[in-house]
Amino acid sequence: MSRLVVVSNRLADPRRPAAGGLAVALGETLNRTGGLWFGWSGTVDPGGTPGEGALQVRQAGAVTLATVDLCREDHASYYLGYSNSVLWPVFHYRLDLADFHTADIDGYRRVNRLFARRLRPLLRDDDVLWVHDYHLIPLAAELRALGCRQRIGFFLHIPVPPPPLLAAIPQHEWLMRAFLAYDLLGLQSETDVGHFTQWLGTEAGAKRLDAQHLRAFGATVRVGAFPIGIDVDEFERLGHAAEAMDTFHALRDEYSRRRLLLGIDRLDYSKGIPQRVRAFRELLQRYPENRHSATLVMIASPSRDSVHAYADLRHELEGLCGAINGDYGDLDWMPLRYIHRTVSRRRVPGLCRASAVGLVTPLRDGMNLVAKEYVAAQDPEDPGVLVLSRFAGAAEQLHEALLVNPYDVQGMAATIQAALHMPLAERQRRHRQLMARIRAQDVHWWRRGFLDALDQCEPASASTSAS
Ligand code: F6P
Repeated sequence: MSRLVVVSNRLADPRRPAAGGLAVALGETLNRTGGLWFGWSGTVDPGGTPGEGALQVRQAGAVTLATVDLCREDHASYYLGYSNSVLWPVFHYRLDLADFHTADIDGYRRVNRLFARRLRPLLRDDDVLWVHDYHLIPLAAELRALGCRQRIGFFLHIPVPPPPLLAAIPQHEWLMRAFLAYDLLGLQSETDVGHFTQWLGTEAGAKRLDAQHLRAFGATVRVGAFPIGIDVDEFERLGHAAEAMDTFHALRDEYSRRRLLLGIDRLDYSKGIPQRVRAFRELLQRYPENRHSATLVMIASPSRDSVHAYADLRHELEGLCGAINGDYGDLDWMPLRYIHRTVSRRRVPGLCRASAVGLVTPLRDGMNLVAKEYVAAQDPEDPGVLVLSRFAGAAEQLHEALLVNPYDVQGMAATIQAALHMPLAERQRRHRQLMARIRAQDVHWWRRGFLDALDQCEPASASTSAS
């Protein structure tokens, strides 16, 4: 059996509950297979040198964790800069928020090269490599340049926008070549596969060899949709543990006469949080029976706060939340509880189960695992209702959620009102159907699907280089 080597920007100790969908999913994957997990340590070394960073290796159960620190300059250009101020906004359809600062691309390439140099000596000939997310698009090309011939797959956790948006990235041709150095490209949805295929077709004249393979720049790559799932069993275990139960009972007691609406996100402009708050305001305005009886709890964990767009969003949100509470709040009721902190993952199932409606309304999202966790946390006898953006990757799987257009604030308010009044039998039916799919297409189904497809690829089929 080949060893699995997972590479991602963020890592977590797979033996502990992590925050963030990607780290949780990869931790659960590696807990099953064992192997090596390589990436950034999460530490910024103020005295470090660009393109350098010592390797640290430690054991966490069956998983070897190998990490590298980044110096301040590399963190600024690779992580805050090119990854999160160019790729993240553009891939989330937000050209208006992209900052095409020329120096950042150098840092992005430098860190990918550093990761390749540090990873290369740790690799065995029969390893299978699985690289994750937009921070590491050029990693395969860098590894190939160092002589790696192992199979390398890439999974993109974020959406792929239509080709004209991708073509606005000054280095987009270089990115295309970098993608083609992988043997397998996994995307979250069929929509993403469609956009990616069109991009390669229109911008690189890629030829479709069959239903799965594309050929361009002398390289062949397999492309497919592999929607990521959650570990349902593990999440259910978390839901029955003391911290989740305590959270559930505390909220049920506190809100015994009120309906709870819940949103849990990273504080990110892709998550549609201001639009959601406006929809809630509209709900109170148009359906006054909800005043004094509905409360929106919004947990937005701090994220990338030294990127301007995130700081701006925080200010906007604080203004909006303050205005709603000021306009509608009363001595015995505040409509909105906005919490700008990370809440322990152990409490999440309890929060979800105590709420009547879960609001997962991103403007764009690769998948959104909170949507799946919300469903998995519910009591099947009395389940809450999931209101889900049609622009989340999860909408391709979760048809029985109430799908909304997050830009349509009035439509969202009407859907929330419908969710609050949905008869029990309909809630149970929808929950049953959603749960069956979430269970069948869980994180292990995702891992198996991707790794089986990678196994079928010819090793090192790519002959291109990103440099
Ligand atoms: O899923 C998208 C993603 O960017 C992951 O790659 C990342 O680990 C997570 O969101 C959280 O973001 P960050 O690592 O920037 O805190």
